[in-house]
Amino acid sequence: MNFEPLFQIFSKIVTVVFSAFFSVSSIGSPLYKAPPEAPEDFTPVLRFAVCSDVHLSGEEGDINEARFRELFSFTEQYSNAHESYNGFDAVMVCGDMTDWGREKEYIAFSKVISEECPEGTEMLVCMGNHEFIEEREGECEDAFANFKKYVNEETDTHTVINGYHFIGISYADKNESFGDKTEWLDAEIKKAIADTGDKPIFVYQHPHPTMTVYGSINWSNVNIRSVLSKYPQIVDFSGHSHYNAADPRSIYQGSFTALGCGGLTGLIGNNNYIDGNAGTTIESASFYIVEVDAEGNIRIQLYDLQNKMFFSEVDYYLTDVAKKSAHYYTWNNLKAFDTRPVFAEGEITSEINENGETVISFPDAKGYYDAQSYTVTVTSGLKTAYSGTILSDYVHAVDDGKSVNLGVLEKGTYKVKVVPMSPYSKLGCALTGEITVA
Ligand SMILES: [Fe+2]
Repeated sequence: MNFEPLFQIFSKIVTVVFSAFFSVSSIGSPLYKAPPEAPEDFTPVLRFAVCSDVHLSGEEGDINEARFRELFSFTEQYSNAHESYNGFDAVMVCGDMTDWGREKEYIAFSKVISEECPEGTEMLVCMGNHEFIEEREGECEDAFANFKKYVNEETDTHTVINGYHFIGISYADKNESFGDKTEWLDAEIKKAIADTGDKPIFVYQHPHPTMTVYGSINWSNVNIRSVLSKYPQIVDFSGHSHYNAADPRSIYQGSFTALGCGGLTGLIGNNNYIDGNAGTTIESASFYIVEVDAEGNIRIQLYDLQNKMFFSEVDYYLTDVAKKSAHYYTWNNLKAFDTRPVFAEGEITSEINENGETVISFPDAKGYYDAQSYTVTVTSGLKTAYSGTILSDYVHAVDDGKSVNLGVLEKGTYKVKVVPMSPYSKLGCALTGEITVA
């Protein structure tokens, strides 16, 4: 049985369900209207970097540590180059800064902070599920103790920076629950609103709020969503899924604003909405740079630490977050721009690698958004030699085509068909070709 049409059908069904679900919360928001761009004279009074899922191993030569260090050096360099505002006010880490919650990983974390974090830059950190993994057989006292020793005495924090409120909340236990701490979150949000009214209030926690950003079906927490939904001025950052932050579904506006952070570690799932970790690892690393002006307008850019450049497609400008009429980043509005992906000039080529496996390459497909996946079918006569849906490389800021390892194929000539699919499940025309395995 060929599962690939099932994959596409499932994507289409979820897209329709999401469109229906979000249509209620999108009422009063713009439709078929492109979001505004940050004006030339946009002058921040607050700047912070946001990342998630650093997964430090504490081992020598840890690539995640190198990328985490670069987050600081790049943001500092970026800030210093800014004419009207040089501030680098905070770094937010939405959990999973360690791989197991082990002491040596926390030591690595605090070493990076002490060596890289500029004086005056605040660290805003909450605990993810990985901070509990080493201790999961017990009550996790050491997990909390390590956090308190190396990061902060408090696991949940409410910080005010340059007049803006930041509220971070950690899991209450190893079971990925927040327990009754959601009441604390609710009370802190109320205090923040009493101070700043409709201005944005930044909240961060490890899992996505349920049914918001891409990945927020199974990598999510519904209790967090219930609290945040009451307050339209909330701008929430989360991680956990490691889903691609450059995907348009990683920003959500509805009853509040939410952004998925991807991860510094790389993509480990992302193949459709409720995928687990299977078979979709792509090395990548990205983080947001967020700038806010005195009126509460927010510019958000996404930086690719692997390719050392900003994603051209992620330069969001949010105004009046508390007002629905200013919500351009709703599911339905962003989906309205989606078009069928079209392949760039080029053809399908193949080569045999050192293991005797056939690797095909083809150009990227792009509509209004980059294709999120390709369904590849390779046949010889009536026989299917390979069939699979694979992620595009849209998690990278460069568009340099895609390669797929088909495994060891028998000698012969094969027909190859590649069908691209957009983030909102629009299928593009197939790219076809023939390859010969000699
Ligand atoms: Fe993670």
